[in-house]
Amino acid sequence: MTEKDFISNPSFQILDSGKVTWESPSNIALVKYWGKKKNQIPENPSISFTLETCKTITSLSFIKKDSTEGFSFDVFLDKVKKDDFKPKIQTFFERVEMYLPFLKRYHFVIETKNTFPHSSGIASSASGMSALALCLMSIEKQLNSEITNDYFNKKASFLARLGSGSACRSIEGPLVVWGKTDSIEVSSDLFGMKYPYKIHNHFKNFQDTILLVDKGEKQVSSTIGHNLMHHHPYAKIRFQQAHENLEKLKNILETGHLEAFIALIESEALTLHAMMMTSMPYFILMKPNTLEIINKIWQFRQETSLPISFTLDAGANVHVLYPEKDATKILEFIKNELVAYCENGHYICDKIGFGAKQLTM
Ligand code: DP6
Repeated sequence: MTEKDFISNPSFQILDSGKVTWESPSNIALVKYWGKKKNQIPENPSISFTLETCKTITSLSFIKKDSTEGFSFDVFLDKVKKDDFKPKIQTFFERVEMYLPFLKRYHFVIETKNTFPHSSGIASSASGMSALALCLMSIEKQLNSEITNDYFNKKASFLARLGSGSACRSIEGPLVVWGKTDSIEVSSDLFGMKYPYKIHNHFKNFQDTILLVDKGEKQVSSTIGHNLMHHHPYAKIRFQQAHENLEKLKNILETGHLEAFIALIESEALTLHAMMMTSMPYFILMKPNTLEIINKIWQFRQETSLPISFTLDAGANVHVLYPEKDATKILEFIKNELVAYCENGHYICDKIGFGAKQLTM
């Protein structure tokens, strides 16, 4: 598919008003997206677990307006008007306008809330942008009932990508691939898709306990972070490595080889941080407590041989990943040994989820 496949014909019929609501999850990458080209095209393929608990719920109300000039919308988070969210949504609308010809015909009210605390250091852009993209697709579907489910999901992911790259991996679950790579035949740079191959039972209900080491705003925005990969001395080899890791992960997901899984995802997490440490300007996004947690995980794994592992986002928080069958012992270790390193002892128990849902409200 190409971008052209997502351009819809302006509809003759136009609804006067309506309201749609979606809840859309966050996701955590196993092979990381870090570096992008023009138009939100990733430099390398990535794959993520869709989460179950951390999500955004967005309602989009629309009412026909008289003029078709400019975008008109208001945005509320937890019922509070958030004008500081508007520039990001304005940019998103500008990027998707050619694919959604009805955008300038309505005034929109966007009401959004997250199931995780706003200042938790958990980025809401993936769940937030995917929820908004899904709401817009629901309007498109009301204008054109011939849209298939498959097209709906692909276009929702395509639009979400234009809001925030990782958001395109938040439409479906439990595992989503984004970015063209030889290992996955139907993969695309334009949208994320459900991982199409066999997934071993070990990964069913895989657990993700998110340790909130630093609940502050991101130290480096992802836009700045991705830009650091332009002219980065190790960029080329890193992008190549992501393709290789995806190929390896395909085999791991099929065989359920947890030792190999752990080595691969921890290396991916540390590579992401290594890219930031070796860029110009350079950043250290881990905090002392991030390292304390990593060392404790390694020590516990060595002592118990339990398949506990970690991954990181572009920040200090730690995602502790483990199979459901070992959840009791590992959660006990987390509570006894790791929670002390979290800001105010805060952590979130999440697990692999199955994607976004439309709500009737
Ligand atoms: C480190 O999706 O936030 O979480 O496309 O600029 O919105 P933009 O970036 P964003 O980047 C997320 C990068 C990451 C790794 C990942 O999720 O793959």
